[in-house]
Formats: sequence, C-alpha cells, structure tokens
Amino acid sequence: MKLITPGHAYYASCLEAIQEYADHQVTGYSFLNPAQCDVAERVARFKTGKGLPPGYVKATYLWLVDEGRFLGETSIRHRLTPSLLRYGGHIGYGIRHNEWGRGLGTAMLAMSLGYAKDHLGFNRVLITCDDDNLASARVIEKNGGILQDKIKNTVGGKAITTRRYWVDIP
Ligand SMILES: CC(C)(COP(=O)(O)OP(=O)(O)OC[C@H]1O[C@@H](n2cnc3c(N)ncnc32)[C@H](O)[C@@H]1OP(=O)(O)O)[C@@H](O)C(=O)NCCC(=O)NCCS
Repeated sequence: MKLITPGHAYYASCLEAIQEYADHQVTGYSFLNPAQCDVAERVARFKTGKGLPPGYVKATYLWLVDEGRFLGETSIRHRLTPSLLRYGGHIGYGIRHNEWGRGLGTAMLAMSLGYAKDHLGFNRVLITCDDDNLASARVIEKNGGILQDKIKNTVGGKAITTRRYWVDIP
C-alpha cells in the first residue's frame, strides 16, 4: 500500500470508487473525477499554484493504492487561508466506501502526515471535520489530533458544527 501521484493506471478503479460513493450517498469528500476533469492537469495546476480559482491555495493530491486498486485520496493544502482555518484545514481525505472500517483511513492520514513533514516541511497541521463525522474524528484522534474547539459554520447554506484538531507531526 502506498501514496502515489494520481495517475492514469488507476482512473478506472477511481471511477468505481466514485460510483460507490454515489451508490451510498457519501458526502464529506469528493475524489478527483477522471470522467469530469483532466486529472493530471488539475494535479499539476494545484501543485504549482498556477491558474487556480480565486481563494484556492497550492495543494498536493495523492492516491492511496494497493495491487492495482484505488483505495482513497488525500489532499494536502500548502497553507491555510482564513476560510480553511474555519473549514477544511490542511488535509482532506476519503477512503472508498467498500474499504471502510479496515484501518485504511487511519493509515492514509498517518502517511499524509509523513508526506506533509518530509515534502512540505510541516511540524503541525490543522484538520477539521464535521462534528457528527465520528469516523473521521476517530481517524484524526488516532493520529494524535488534539481538539482545539468546535465552531459554527455555514456550508452550502446549511448550519454545521466543525471540529478543529491540531496534529503535531513527530
Ligand atoms: C472517515 C473515513 C476516511 C474513515 O475511513 P476508514 O478507513 O473507515 O477509517 P479506519 O478504519 O481507519 O477507522 C475508522 C474509525 O472510526 C470508527 N467509526 C467508524 N464509524 C463510526 C461511527 N459511526 N461512530 C463512531 N466511530 C466510528 C471506527 O470504529 C474506527 O475506529 P476504531 O479503530 O477505534 O474502531 C471514511 O469513512 C470516509 O472516507 N468517509 C467519507 C469522506 C469523509 O468523511 N472524509 C473526511 C472528511 S473530514
């Protein structure tokens, strides 16, 4: 199991994962969609920061893969904005639905933290999740996340409570 730069070899498997999310009405994370965008171009654009929409910051997208299968995606933002400080934080992630509950979310976040330290120089990161996303909260806590606070946000016109965790990267 490893984190890789999103690549063509896994597009078909990623599309299966997108279908699994649709079948189970999963929200909370959207995988890069090879059917809707040029994934390689988008990954490169976010990595360099050139041509991003207003308010967006540089980010590194990585796919968790094993034996030819797409298992999940993580996106690591290179800096926080006032908006990401309230909702989004440094790292977002999703595991394909059919693989939930096997420790992959915990493992992928651990690998993302390692990447953030080794490649981006972070010693601590902010990770947020919806207050009722208990699986994500657990994943963050198992990676050493310390709850800073819970704040009110409005996302897509809906009032939500967001947990904000800081994780020190050893
Ligand atoms: C959050 C997510 C990444 C977790 O992935 P995963 O591979 O299932 O995670 P793990 O197996 O490593 O661990 C899940 C933990 O949450 C716990 N958990 C799962 N569902 C839970 C629930 N409804 N209530 C409480 N705990 C729950 C599991 O018991 C496990 O903890 P444990 O090891 O102490 O038993 C996955 O559910 C997902 O992709 N969700 C959709 C996208 C998303 O919400 N992303 C996060 C945005 S902040």
